[in-house]
Amino acid sequence: MKGVILAGGHGTRLYPITLGVSKQMLSVHDKPLIYYPLSTLLLAGVTDIQIISSPEDVGSFRRLLGDGSDLGISLSYAEQDKPRGVADAFRVAARHIGNDPVALILGDNLFHGAGFSTMLHDHARDIDGCVLFGYPVREPERYGVATTDGRGRLLGLEEKPSAPRSDLAVTGLYFYDNEVLDIARDLAPSERGELEITDVNRVYLARGKARLVELGRGFVWLDTGTHDALTAAAQYVQLMERRQNIRIACVEEIAWRMGLISEEDCYRLGRRLEKSPYGQYLMSVVRHSRRADGLE
Ligand code: DAU
Repeated sequence: MKGVILAGGHGTRLYPITLGVSKQMLSVHDKPLIYYPLSTLLLAGVTDIQIISSPEDVGSFRRLLGDGSDLGISLSYAEQDKPRGVADAFRVAARHIGNDPVALILGDNLFHGAGFSTMLHDHARDIDGCVLFGYPVREPERYGVATTDGRGRLLGLEEKPSAPRSDLAVTGLYFYDNEVLDIARDLAPSERGELEITDVNRVYLARGKARLVELGRGFVWLDTGTHDALTAAAQYVQLMERRQNIRIACVEEIAWRMGLISEEDCYRLGRRLEKSPYGQYLMSVVRHSRRADGLE
């Protein structure tokens, strides 16, 4: 399965911060925002990923993450000349996707929860149609909203409805079979002039091929669309990391634990950042594991 991270847009709701820097480069406590969606794709087992951003910003992502070889993955980059809508990602990334199924994640979405990796692997397998992830929120009108029959069967999808019929937001993580390329190619822009991801999902729904997985209470899904939401996300990460002495979305650690890079590689990546607590953490998790294995 190929992966796509959509990390463009103007970030207008975060002005003036995003006047000079891409939103997905902003810090969420100790790391850039893009590490969070990248780690979600890694946890799903997706290692061939294209990052889409604006022509002005794509270079900064390339500088940050390179070709992915440090993480044992493949990263490529594509430009979206202007924000035409989330579903435009499939047109921009069509070549990268080729004949494969694809996982799309929005570059500003942060997921965290126990058992997330296993759950993602389960749903990424043998995709026939699309898999959406629903999450109950207090202000569903800010999102795509799903209605179900109460037993989890998907009945309807609406984009930012003024009177939502449920509190179930559709998160910014989507799994699709390869049909999505044709659906996106034939899609007409919505009233607000965008290629809406919800319209893509509605085509699957009409074909009886859309599945919704509800993320329960044990999961955290945060968006970072406003100053308050960005601060709240940073506070959540800080609290969890301090309390448990772990790091969320530490992509190097994930790559090592998933067997994509060796222990030595992980340690070396940490040493490159050794003046920062992030780098020190990476070195310490490797040392800890070597000690547990009786190697130190
Ligand atoms: O976060 C989940 C929500 O994401 C879903 O519930 C909605 O159904 C979906 O439409 C989307 O809504 P947003 O209002 O959050 O979409 P937004 O236009 O803010 O775009 C999401 C991210 O994608 C944002 O970080 C910018 C980036 N983007 C967006 C567009 C429209 C691009 O890179 N290019 C684009 O053309």
